[in-house]
Amino acid sequence: MRKKVIAGNWKMYMDIAGAVNLITGIKAGLNKDSLNCDVVICPPAVNLETANELVKNSPIGLGAQNMYFEDQGAFTGEISAPMLKAVGCGYVILGHSERRTIFGEKDELINKKVIKALASGLTPIFCIGETLEERENGTTFSVVKTQITEGLKGVSADDITKVIVAYEPVWAIGTGKTASPEQAQEVHKYIRTMLSEMYGSDKADSVTIQYGGSVKPENAAELLGQPDIDGALVGGACLKADSFLAIIHAV
Ligand code: 13P
Repeated sequence: MRKKVIAGNWKMYMDIAGAVNLITGIKAGLNKDSLNCDVVICPPAVNLETANELVKNSPIGLGAQNMYFEDQGAFTGEISAPMLKAVGCGYVILGHSERRTIFGEKDELINKKVIKALASGLTPIFCIGETLEERENGTTFSVVKTQITEGLKGVSADDITKVIVAYEPVWAIGTGKTASPEQAQEVHKYIRTMLSEMYGSDKADSVTIQYGGSVKPENAAELLGQPDIDGALVGGACLKADSFLAIIHAV
């Protein structure tokens, strides 16, 4: 059985005081006894150390939003996997569409980061997804196929089950326009079929595939009820304890 994973991508929101407030709220409202998913928060890097102190001895896992693939060196502005491990991270979001479009990250770079995360014992939350234009011109599957083949190049069959794939259609991110459960399920099923061709069906069946893009308390249960949707990567709705908790409790 795949475990569902609900992760909050805080993006570039929340100073330290806001982070303390939000994490305290999530902890207070988390119904630990009936929790049947993993919960992860991914605050901005400057908040990770504080966040780690607060999530210790709680079921909340900690993730970063990005990292570089070298351990150390003259890479101004970058953060390495060992640094993330040292502040208590277990997860790292890689290849988010905002990294791809705004910061020009390509599949090849994202692939190096995925390989490094796995080698360092971090769970990569590997993001893929098509733009509106790509969906409208009928290339969703081929776009996703390239992102998977290139982004997961060199990932072994043993390691693939340690990867979380996040399908985030770019047109659904921050727009309030959610993919319908059927639209999302169709692509999730395609992703699992691809993983099955690459790694065999046993492995593919064990990979967590999250949906992301305007997930809210109102649509979470229906999306999470689809057979191949194994969790959510939540943006806007994870910035308030109440709405993040409602999504978690919808599992
Ligand atoms: P929204 O939930 O704000 O659409 O953001 C989704 C996202 O990009 C999560 O990584």
